[in-house]
Amino acid sequence: MVDGYSRLIDYLRISITDRCNLRCRYCMPNDLDLIPHSQILRYEEILRICAISANLGIRRIKVTGGEPLVRKGCLGFLKRLKAVDGIESISITTNGILLEPCVQAISEMGLDCVNISLDTLNPAVFAELSGMDALNLVLNSLHAALRAGLRVKVNCVLMRGINDGEILAIAELAEKYPVDVRFIELMPSEFGQEFIRFSGDEALSIIAHRFPGLKPESSFHGSGPAKYFTSPELLGSIGFIDAIGNCFCEGCNRIRLTSAGFLKLCLSHGDGLDLRAMLRSGATDIEMERAIEEAVRWKPKRHIFNEAQSVYMRMSQIGG
Ligand code: GTP
Ligand code: 5AD
Ligand code: SF4
Repeated sequence: MVDGYSRLIDYLRISITDRCNLRCRYCMPNDLDLIPHSQILRYEEILRICAISANLGIRRIKVTGGEPLVRKGCLGFLKRLKAVDGIESISITTNGILLEPCVQAISEMGLDCVNISLDTLNPAVFAELSGMDALNLVLNSLHAALRAGLRVKVNCVLMRGINDGEILAIAELAEKYPVDVRFIELMPSEFGQEFIRFSGDEALSIIAHRFPGLKPESSFHGSGPAKYFTSPELLGSIGFIDAIGNCFCEGCNRIRLTSAGFLKLCLSHGDGLDLRAMLRSGATDIEMERAIEEAVRWKPKRHIFNEAQSVYMRMSQIGG
């Protein structure tokens, strides 16, 4: 699909649940009112949307949450997703808490990549930030994923005064292991706006000092918004997702499906299409195909993080 700004849209992010087993303060600090189960799409419904989307040119799918691995049957769903005609790549973004026992199955089903959120290497900071003293579980998952030969990306959301003192320690994961470590600028989501953003450019200058060989990657790497840097000193790479400091919307290739079946055209805008209503009122595949194509034509040009309208963005419902 091509949108109204001639961007090729071939990537679909699917949030399969708004529930999570952590309570990260910038995302889901307390027991928010959760979406009732009856309003959450069943796996069959999601798979139908995926098949329709594949027909429209979606080639890559990212499964997110909340935390995707808390939804019962997630592994079985991933396996069925893998079998959807036309889908070339499937990956998952997880907080890593439940990942370790799933690593073997994920590797066997041939998932292309696992993204693990890891904002700190300090157990006390982890507990304070996420509400669970469980850094060791995430690190065990990371090591298990690497041992299983999975491609791993680490996501670190930068927050001034919280984890900006750990930038080098976290970047060094890419020195020790073949992982892509990505530093993410905090976006002003519902709870994210209560923290102070630390810019990707500032993080880059700290890291470049430590790894003087650091150079922007010349060849294309990945299909997301991260801009990568490599260095002979690194086994992996260092990436930056600077939605605010270095807006990447011009190259946007994605749309999002929430667990409640709303097709969101941009992370920061409310516009979209209620696919659950279509699914549950008996729409045909062709009708849904046309509606998705038409919606994509109206995909916003860029985010509005700097404007007042963008204040309501509940990350746990969108999946980032
Ligand atoms: P890969 O395809 O694996 O590289 O995925 P990704 O980096 O796009 O996905 P991931 O789920 O790991 O998200 C990493 C960070 O990027 C999260 O903070 C997301 O909110 C953010 N992100 C992903 N896509 C977009 C986007 O289109 N716009 C903005 N503003 N942020 C995005
Ligand atoms: N800004 C940037 N990234 C965020 N994430 C959650 N909330 C925000 C925010 N406000 C990240 C998570 C996870 C990914 C899916 O999105 O840490 O790595
Ligand atoms: Fe695409 Fe919107 Fe993200 Fe920009 S903010 S990259 S337009 S989804």
